[in-house]
Amino acid sequence: MRFSGHRVLITGAGAGIGRLMAERMAGRGAEVIVTARRIDAAREVVKHIANAGGTAHAYTLDVGKISSIATLRDKIHEEVGPLTMLINNAGVVFGGEFEQVSLDQHLQTFKVNSEGLMACTHAFLDDLIQAQHGHLVNIASASAFIGLPYGSSYAASKWAVVGFSESLRLELAERGLRNVKVTTVCPSYIATGMFKGVKTPLFSPMLTPDKVVSSILKGIAAGEPFVIEPPMARSVELLKGVLPRRLWDQVAKYTGVSTSMYSWKGKHD
Ligand SMILES: NC(=O)c1ccc[n+]([C@@H]2O[C@H](COP(=O)([O-])OP(=O)(O)OC[C@H]3O[C@@H](n4cnc5c(N)ncnc54)[C@H](OP(=O)(O)O)[C@@H]3O)[C@@H](O)[C@H]2O)c1
Repeated sequence: MRFSGHRVLITGAGAGIGRLMAERMAGRGAEVIVTARRIDAAREVVKHIANAGGTAHAYTLDVGKISSIATLRDKIHEEVGPLTMLINNAGVVFGGEFEQVSLDQHLQTFKVNSEGLMACTHAFLDDLIQAQHGHLVNIASASAFIGLPYGSSYAASKWAVVGFSESLRLELAERGLRNVKVTTVCPSYIATGMFKGVKTPLFSPMLTPDKVVSSILKGIAAGEPFVIEPPMARSVELLKGVLPRRLWDQVAKYTGVSTSMYSWKGKHD
């Protein structure tokens, strides 16, 4: 699996699976534009990639600062060139009882996870359309298929990502733009610290970043519309569709699907 010829921008690539995707894609021949809120974090990843013989560039990008995104696009066009792939990875979560989490934090969740992702796509979609093989990758979450008590704004922001991503994928196909692939990624819990403290559901153990990134890269290479991890999470949509809602609620409760966030601590406990 090679990504030579791709110029990939990854948001939130200073840590977690964003960083790992940057390093892996560079290792497989892609030129990577590493963006992070803190330039030091982006430079650190670029240094690591360069030491391993890859090509990467560091830029500051806070995807919550919507008006800065088009400015950065122009700067990248001038200094590096147009993209062939955009990976919208940046994300935040604030768990807890709905009214105990501040309104600012709920709104920030939407700003980063949904609005920032749409704004980055808006800024760079034309690059992908002009590319011979363009690819848009949106990191959503398995919580986009369920109700997530104590994580309502996070789940809602990821439902928005799936709705946006699927709609755009169909729209591009309808417009005959078959050179642009769209992949929506829906993993369950990953051991990056973002969901420290959660109680993982039955049949859905904590995933390693390594496993998730391997699946994402395979899915991108195959042009898959969806990457869902673990595979068991795929059954949620089916079960929700066929079971009466109250029965599904009980299944979700007793398998720990809807109770996992009760003990969330996150990175800043
Ligand atoms: N961990 C999981 O269990 C899990 C499960 C499903 C989906 N996901 C999704 O996977 C993606 C990556 O998460 P992760 O697990 O790798 O957690 P992570 O290590 O916390 O990574 C999140 C990244 O997003 C960045 N970020 C946050 N706010 C930003 C902003 N306003 N502008 C730009 N970057 C920003 C963070 O930067 P800082 O370091 O500066 O904060 C960090 O690099 C997220 O979209 C997340 O929702 C995660």
